[in-house]
Amino acid sequence: MKPVRKAVLPVAGLGTRVLPATKVMPKEMLPVFDRPAIHHVVAEARAAGIEHFVFVTGRNKAAIEDYFDTAYELEHTLEAKGKTALLDTLRAELPDPGACSFVRQQAPLGLGHAVWCARDVVGDQPFAVLLPDMLMRAETPCLAQMTAAYGEVGGNIISVQEVPREDVSSYGVIEPGRTRGALIEMTGMVEKPAVADAPSNLMISGRYILQPEIFALLESQTPGAGGEIQLTDAMLSLMRSSPFHALPFEGETFDTGSKTGYLRASAAYGLADPEHGAEVRAILSGLVGR
Ligand code: UTP
Repeated sequence: MKPVRKAVLPVAGLGTRVLPATKVMPKEMLPVFDRPAIHHVVAEARAAGIEHFVFVTGRNKAAIEDYFDTAYELEHTLEAKGKTALLDTLRAELPDPGACSFVRQQAPLGLGHAVWCARDVVGDQPFAVLLPDMLMRAETPCLAQMTAAYGEVGGNIISVQEVPREDVSSYGVIEPGRTRGALIEMTGMVEKPAVADAPSNLMISGRYILQPEIFALLESQTPGAGGEIQLTDAMLSLMRSSPFHALPFEGETFDTGSKTGYLRASAAYGLADPEHGAEVRAILSGLVGR
């Protein structure tokens, strides 16, 4: 079984749900407490042993490429001022030289199309997909939980999280089959089902381990829901020939792609911050108590 060493991070979406914040600033660069959302996601991937990051970018996303580069003037100034702790933080969290690739999705034709754009860089090996607007907080990072499960069963793995039944119409949910230890065999999945028709309340939460055969399926995939090339449709085709498991992720999921979800994530990350958590708590209680 080939290990998962590459991750695809699709960042070419328009982020319309959080406009006007995303008019000139990529959604993935909006800070969740003290660092951009994409930084949290790359850290999660690194913790799972990912060695190469493939960003699928589009127009207005140059800030992401710059963020994962050395900032000479800034570092020089910090050095001159003796701010070594800050400097160390900036340097320690950068991916290794050559560990990032940037491919362009010229038009946002859908998540499936974005993943397909990474095909040449990923090549013929299993890979992870992390949706950077979904943040996962957990003792063991979500992708690391998934790579551990992958080491046991191989194939394709999707992280899922339970949501209240009345909320299923906002998400993709899986059709569960038999359980196998912590994993659930999948028999299908459906995007945004009506509550009455939903096969489960297990939301597909934005982390995937996929086999490279998905690329050939994406290539011939016709547009699905919303006129977009959907990853879900290609995964349903792949499910006919390759095993799919869902891993109920132990931790908390934050959807930073909506205005209130973004606020919730920022508050939660601020509350958990070892240095500022107590102050954030006092600020939030003060605002609520008004
Ligand atoms: P979303 O649908 O959440 O992102 O896609 P979006 O399209 O930017 O958001 P809204 O609905 O307009 O507010 C999930 C992830 O897939 C990427 C997005 O950047 C996001 O990180 N994506 C989506 C692409 O890279 N390309 C696409 O064509 C669509």
